[in-house]
Amino acid sequence: MTPRPRPSDRHRRRPARRTDHVRTNRALWERQSDAYDRRFRSVLGEKNAESWGFERIPEVELNLLGPVEGRDILELGCGAARWSISLAGRGANVVGLDFSSAQLEKARKGVARARSPVRLIEASAERVPLRSASFDLVFCDWGAMTFCDPYRTVPECSRLLRPGGLLVFATASPIASLAWNRAGDRIGTRFTRDYFGLHQVELPNEVNFQLPYGGWIDLFRSNGFEVVSLLEPQMGRRRRSRYLSSRESRWGERWPLEAIWRVRKLGTGSPAPP
Ligand SMILES: C[S@@+](CC[C@H](N)C(=O)[O-])C[C@H]1O[C@@H](n2cnc3c(N)ncnc32)[C@H](O)[C@@H]1O
Repeated sequence: MTPRPRPSDRHRRRPARRTDHVRTNRALWERQSDAYDRRFRSVLGEKNAESWGFERIPEVELNLLGPVEGRDILELGCGAARWSISLAGRGANVVGLDFSSAQLEKARKGVARARSPVRLIEASAERVPLRSASFDLVFCDWGAMTFCDPYRTVPECSRLLRPGGLLVFATASPIASLAWNRAGDRIGTRFTRDYFGLHQVELPNEVNFQLPYGGWIDLFRSNGFEVVSLLEPQMGRRRRSRYLSSRESRWGERWPLEAIWRVRKLGTGSPAPP
């Protein structure tokens, strides 16, 4: 007899009823925008703009986005829009979206400096004020997908993408979310949260979101996506990270610190690259 899955096995959840997390996270980014930019400017800089994750693995190495020339691309949580500007330089039509006016101010300066055609929009990734089926690719590297309720953003990305379009994003791995302590300042070798029911991850000044692996897959599938790949970069294999403490790097040599999801919207239309 096949056992019937209990709700905890199926990971079915609803979006957080309230959206206080958006207010909390926006306040955080308004407050820390300058410090973040000062600290990471050189790591995120123009030369490495198209790079993924803590170790800044170049897009040319991973080829997660595929060809970009002529494609309509949305960056969710673009920050200073370094990725967006670089992609537009390769011939893509890019919209950079962020909910922080301080972050967007930096993006505006970058766009003006580069004389880039990137269009910037101030809005939350949970409610994007753009037409349905208007993008071939929606992506972010530790952008809004980390800070937003996936039960709102995944349907929103599905709405915004054309059939065959790709959603690609780097964020924490579910395992890492379990291993961060509740103050969010230390990753350890014990789990501090339950796996089942993993959803809103409350930290002292911010709110992150995470799902169990099965929860992500259920959510993608129920919004018309198929999973193309899940990349779990092992730290310390390619290069030293300038984001991580040595403790975090050592942790990331043993377990996946981050997850880069690549999912494709099903349906016929201009096919996205494999
Ligand atoms: C860690 S930063 C990464 C930015 C960019 N990927 C970079 O490398 O500079 C996260 C960005 O997501 C934005 N963000 C967070 N939650 C958001 C939301 N709900 N809607 C739009 N942007 C959001 C923040 O304002 C911030 O600019």
